[in-house]
Amino acid sequence: MMEKKKVLLAVTGGIAAYKAATVASKLYQSGYEVKVILTESAQKFITPLTFQTLTRQVVFTDTFEEKDPSVVSHIEIADWADLVLIAPATANAIGKLANGIADDMLTTTLLATKADVLIAPAMNVNMFNHPAVKKNMETLASYGWRFIEPNEGLLACGWIGKGRLAEPEELIDSVHAYFQEKNEESSLTLSGKKVMVTAGPTREELDPVRYFTNHSSGKMGYAIAAAAKKLGADVTLVTGPTSLEVPSGIKVERVTSAKEMFDQALSLYAEQDVVIKCAAVADYTPVTVHSNKFKKKNDTWTIELKKTDDILQALGDRKEHQILVGFAAETENLEDYAKDKLKRKNLDMVVGNDVSKEGSGFGSDTNEIIMIKKDGSVCPLPILSKEKAAREILEEVMDMMKR
Ligand code: PMT
Repeated sequence: MMEKKKVLLAVTGGIAAYKAATVASKLYQSGYEVKVILTESAQKFITPLTFQTLTRQVVFTDTFEEKDPSVVSHIEIADWADLVLIAPATANAIGKLANGIADDMLTTTLLATKADVLIAPAMNVNMFNHPAVKKNMETLASYGWRFIEPNEGLLACGWIGKGRLAEPEELIDSVHAYFQEKNEESSLTLSGKKVMVTAGPTREELDPVRYFTNHSSGKMGYAIAAAAKKLGADVTLVTGPTSLEVPSGIKVERVTSAKEMFDQALSLYAEQDVVIKCAAVADYTPVTVHSNKFKKKNDTWTIELKKTDDILQALGDRKEHQILVGFAAETENLEDYAKDKLKRKNLDMVVGNDVSKEGSGFGSDTNEIIMIKKDGSVCPLPILSKEKAAREILEEVMDMMKR
């Protein structure tokens, strides 16, 4: 028999709390194990006994009411949950949660849980639109919490607008969809596969105090490495100089110049199953590297540059069993230039990004990418966090590995 999924329903104090009883009941009837936390204000609208009867479980209302001496209940329930659904979520609860306040059973549990959180706000339309509430919601969204948008209509307070708790059916559908997505995700894996990701910029030295570089922060490449690790891969990150922390469990090879990255990437290549070349490698490097600081003399200084070796091209030329993914950072003709790189460098997929677009490319936390595979398929994506873009790239890689 399949183990029951555990949903922790957290109910805060708004008039919509009455709808939470239907949610609890329907979740229970759908086969979930359901436990409920009620805040003090929620109990002004609905009683613990209602939820206890509907879920056949003890309801939690007070952090300090420890009914079982062998456990600390807010930690136990935080660890127990596969998913937390906060419905309805008041402006007050959202504010406390966004600011890490832990002064009751609900907020202490939410701070302690590692489970994913779905949150369904319900409040007056003006409260919902207030910048303070918006900012708090953005903070929670940045933790990966997913919002179930309130509906528009006549609100209990008499105003008409957005703020009405999503209907119980919508809330239950969101819970089903969450577990379905998790199921699909867990069938995808890179376990047993070796993945090499290159990231960050390179530095091309001119003299002991000067170098050429570019704007790459490493965020995109590090996000790919972290996502591959999460999917179970044995990940090596070959990184140019960045200020980022390497995610745990990832092997790291630090390099500075394009030449060092070339040597490192080629030496590790044979053993890799997947290589994703996200680094922004210098295309040119100074012909002369001065051993002492070049002194200021003339009004102009002409520096001669020579081409670096193209790492991706070298990997493409030597490709055997590997899946090879390159990037294309462009400011015009993105698709055409990306397709050209795909073909010329013998890639399995190229990820194009227009680095002149706001929120895309260098330095930002988001990226707008287009994935083009050698089978001719073209997949443009909307602007996504680099973490989500990384996941999309790896899903394509896993899809190619299946064939
Ligand atoms: O690091 P972030 O701030 O998060 O920014 C992300 C990014 C913009 C750096 C990333 O999304 C990206 O586009 N990386 C590739 C940058 C680049 O060098 O693009 P390119 O079009 O110039 O090069 C094409 C491909 O050839 C790239 O895969 C590059 O790694 C590779 N290359 C280039 C030159 C060279 N000498 N050797 C290479 O392997």
